[in-house]
Amino acid sequence: MAEATIHFPKGFLWGCATAAHQVEGNNTNNNWYYWEEQGRTRHKAGLACDWWGGRWREDMDRAAETGQNTHRLSIEWSRIQPTPDRWDEDALERYRAMLRGMNERGITPLVTLHHFSDPLWLFEQDSWENETVVPLFEKYVRKAVEALKEYTNLWCTINEPNVYALNGYVAGDFPTGKSGHKGMNLAMRVLVNMLRAHAAAYKAIHEIQREARVGYALHYRPMVAARSWMPLDALMRNIQYKGINMAFPTALRTGVMQSPLGNVRVPEVKGLQDYLGLNYYSVDTVKFDLFNPKELFARRYYPAHADLSATKFIANIPEGLFDSLQWAVKTYPDLPIIITENGVEDPDDRIRPRYLAQHIQQVWRAVNFNWPVKGYYHWSLIDNFEWERGWTQRFGLWGLDVETQARIRRPSVDLYAEICRENGLSSEMVRKYAPEVLEKMFPG
Ligand code: FCB
Repeated sequence: MAEATIHFPKGFLWGCATAAHQVEGNNTNNNWYYWEEQGRTRHKAGLACDWWGGRWREDMDRAAETGQNTHRLSIEWSRIQPTPDRWDEDALERYRAMLRGMNERGITPLVTLHHFSDPLWLFEQDSWENETVVPLFEKYVRKAVEALKEYTNLWCTINEPNVYALNGYVAGDFPTGKSGHKGMNLAMRVLVNMLRAHAAAYKAIHEIQREARVGYALHYRPMVAARSWMPLDALMRNIQYKGINMAFPTALRTGVMQSPLGNVRVPEVKGLQDYLGLNYYSVDTVKFDLFNPKELFARRYYPAHADLSATKFIANIPEGLFDSLQWAVKTYPDLPIIITENGVEDPDDRIRPRYLAQHIQQVWRAVNFNWPVKGYYHWSLIDNFEWERGWTQRFGLWGLDVETQARIRRPSVDLYAEICRENGLSSEMVRKYAPEVLEKMFPG
């Protein structure tokens, strides 16, 4: 075992990511509230982490005191524009206070403008299925960016367009819950509208703020074929890989959105990103499965020996992050990359310390090839409302007692604090927090 410390470039961004509906609480004017009321989620968001009630302050104290220098949050469209003809200036004032509070604590905000939640009035007019969403989104973005530009120049237009479209229209877990062949067609329409909206927002933000840096967050899933000797596994892997990952990346590179149902030209979006936001969680194994027509005869799963999270939602496969970064660099040479999400659900902090340390080591490998990785956001700062899975998954460095709002400090808080403060990771830290992977990470 070698004693060593690995270092990151000066100015590297270290923080956590959250989303409005998952932490604010009392969001009762959006599609997710409707979904919860319909009984389509395991629990209700309720007060969530009570950030709207002001507890963002204590949580930002926690982030700052533990060495974080940035935070990715999202703002809630339904609060800012509660009805199509009304802006809520008080809501904007609250967001201004939040961002100002982050600045005062030495925390650079990265603001996401859309993270899965839509105002109810938009939902009632078919949300992103309808192309009228494009100018509506642009209008909202202009209003929000004008109000908040004093406090940040880092923007993320849309979080995980692929997850929004596929979960909402193919898998049926997210609102709208549509699925089947009709759902597939609608998902493609949603993605095209999201691309157009991204392009409109990108241009609008730059018009308002010259020095803005604008991107979106891609949920990227590396995939491997289950059996190397089985051509049908390779075929299924390729279909799934392209279908799930490639709509946005190819459109941004070429101006053409590729989809399993055909290609669509979206020339206006070509090249419009100042960084690539990458959300990486795990790698899927893909197998041909004659008995699974619902997923187009493919099955995606984690291998039996995988290092699995509490509800088996995530497998700890750190090399997948390196592979994702390599894909990003090959696809967009020289484009800065920000890891906008990475994390694991783990109420007992059994796997999180090693997940954290091993993934950060992979980021370091990438940085050592001079790949332009600029920051890392852990999902998440504190346990929060996990969409249709409700409170069954605990992604926080800090735990949350949903009844009492008490925050519970998990050991990973201290590991991440040491990493952020050191701007690096040492064998000593791994020995202390994740000794089981010490030899693997620092052999010799
Ligand atoms: C991502 C979402 C985020 C959170 C994590 C666990 O897909 O962007 O809101 O739910 O998964």
